[in-house]
Amino acid sequence: MGLAVLPIHAYTSEILETVAKNAVCVLIGETGSGKTTQLSQMFHQAGYTKSGRIGVTQPRRVAAVSVARRVAFEMGVQVGEDVGYSIRFEDRTSSKTAIKYLTDGCLLRECLFDPELHQYSVIILDEAHERSLNTDILLGLLRRLVSKRKPELKVVITSATLDGEKMSDFFFKCPIVRVPGKLYPVQILYSKERPVSYLDGAVQTALDIHVSEPPGDILLFMTGQDEIEKAIAKLEEEVQSLDEGSCMDVVILPLYGSLPPEMQARVFGQPPDNCRRIIVATNIAETSLTVDGVVYVIDPGLVKQRQYNPASGMDSLAVVPISRVQAIQRAGRAGRTRPGRCYRLYPEAAYEHELLAATVPEIQRSSLAGTVLHLKSLELPDIDILDFDFLDQPSLELLEDALSQLYIVDAIDKSGSITALGKRMAELPLEPALARALIAAEELDCLGQALTVAAVLSCESIFYNAPRQGKEKKRAREHGSLPNGRGLGDHIQYLQIYDAWEKNNFDLEWCKENGLQIRAMKFARDVRRQLGQIMLRKKRDGEPEKRESSSLRKVGSARALRQALCKGFGNRLAHRLPHHNGYRCIGHKSQLVQIHPSACPLEVDEEGLLPEWVLYHELISTTHPFIRHVCMVEGSWVEPLLKKMDNMDIRGLSGRKTPIVPEKRLEDDKAMVMARTGSQQVLSSTL
Ligand code: CDP
Ligand code: MG
Repeated sequence: MGLAVLPIHAYTSEILETVAKNAVCVLIGETGSGKTTQLSQMFHQAGYTKSGRIGVTQPRRVAAVSVARRVAFEMGVQVGEDVGYSIRFEDRTSSKTAIKYLTDGCLLRECLFDPELHQYSVIILDEAHERSLNTDILLGLLRRLVSKRKPELKVVITSATLDGEKMSDFFFKCPIVRVPGKLYPVQILYSKERPVSYLDGAVQTALDIHVSEPPGDILLFMTGQDEIEKAIAKLEEEVQSLDEGSCMDVVILPLYGSLPPEMQARVFGQPPDNCRRIIVATNIAETSLTVDGVVYVIDPGLVKQRQYNPASGMDSLAVVPISRVQAIQRAGRAGRTRPGRCYRLYPEAAYEHELLAATVPEIQRSSLAGTVLHLKSLELPDIDILDFDFLDQPSLELLEDALSQLYIVDAIDKSGSITALGKRMAELPLEPALARALIAAEELDCLGQALTVAAVLSCESIFYNAPRQGKEKKRAREHGSLPNGRGLGDHIQYLQIYDAWEKNNFDLEWCKENGLQIRAMKFARDVRRQLGQIMLRKKRDGEPEKRESSSLRKVGSARALRQALCKGFGNRLAHRLPHHNGYRCIGHKSQLVQIHPSACPLEVDEEGLLPEWVLYHELISTTHPFIRHVCMVEGSWVEPLLKKMDNMDIRGLSGRKTPIVPEKRLEDDKAMVMARTGSQQVLSSTL
């Protein structure tokens, strides 16, 4: 097919020999060297697919889909046949599938149903340098599995920049294969100081390059979709005002995770002749997606990072400095086809002294409730969660927080053992809170409604313009004839909207007229169907099939639905302050919060006060601490949960009779501070 020869091809025999002789190996190669797209084909050709599939994990959904397409194209087959992909709620594989790209989350779920992963002969843990939460857990699980399934199972861990020695040590000193990159030199240019606005600074730099530098595409890193859109609007305006004919044509393209596939295809397609492309991308272009033709990289040195604080239960999505490893990766994107340039919009001293050497792994900055439930449900022999084989240990605080969350939703008992309920929860591809709510809904005869709510919450947003601009979202919601949630909250509104859509025979025009995202609505419908199937399949044995499916159609009350949700969201309840409309989150997390302006209006009493108790889906700090996706609940439902919280004994939950050694906690706390701040200054002051 005349495909390019990639650096990895020269190492085919070395790789195949190493894999033949060892159960595990680490493979390090520059981004673009062919790890993701070629390794699987290499093993396929070498005959490994005779005894099982080749599974390649990706931390990101888009990457899994995009590389599966690419590999199918290279092999001249249809996606879903010899080459397929599997991401949450979307399985494009068949019995024919020999090479399967899947998210790390999907492979983790497969462990639940087949702990030894027998369908695979080779598992490639790709993009391990990203250190996503799920990849880290898989590393620990595969570490146990390789010795069990020796010699049939081969595991390859690949990375662009990973600390290979550390990974090799973790896997019993397995060999490391290095594929030298075919990288051209990249000249690094630093700014004297940080620009006042990095967005304006980046736009200006892009324009300067465009008017004065020779042809070559420009890759500009921004931190999120919002910013990308702003930068593109600015760039377009500026480009318009350039004198016609003074420089070459330009097309400006966005690239981010939730971009519709047809828009992404424009970035990977052939660029028009004599035209410069400016690609404005999130961090996704740092390693997981490679755009060919880039010669200039503009790096403001920032990334949007989710950070969970177990003390407050709050997630924040903060723009933080990238690490040096990331800065090097970004620069490398400029030297793939010929010598390039990287414009760092920060001083060299900042690079040397302010950036962390490596990014804090996600496992040290995420809520671990889902992860711990998953590990517990695997019932690994002789395992204490606190001693699981983590490549980097999460803090004790995070683990204890996870245990207490699980206890409140009845997933584990007083001694920390998983309950029957917990096992059912783990089987649902949902976070523990929603899983618990679905099971409660079944008992309260409102499963159909709860499925709808869970499905809608699994989408990015069903509203147009949302969730970025609170005000516009509000406008969109009040627009047209959308139902209003009857003052009970967002969840009820989601249900009403979905039901209205169903009444309109799932008409897509109807969505458009009502300011709803067609893609999200279709996705919700699909997710709802899948969740329904799983719930019915998992229902208690012995009940006749017919009765089961009728339970989906039963129309429970909105009250029952809210009660079911309350069972699931016991960790996410908020109590209104006595005399005004602020809320305080309950439990040890007594964070003061406000309801997010995008929320659907709640009923107020004669004094203008909001409901006394609400549950929320998300506690997030943007400009203020806000709760989002809010729904009114009743005090009598909250009471037993409060009692449970009061009587909780965290030592018991952790399954440890002796108190945890204080030294360990101290070290963990230090790690936590590092994880929370992600900045070098704080790091050095705590050490
Ligand atoms: O994984 P790694 O970064 O080592 O490389 P890769 O993703 O396998 O990419 C190898 C080559 O395939 C690069 O030149 C990519 O541009 C190309 N590729 C592509 O054209 N379309 C994709 N969806 C993925 C990769
Ligand atoms: Mg790759």
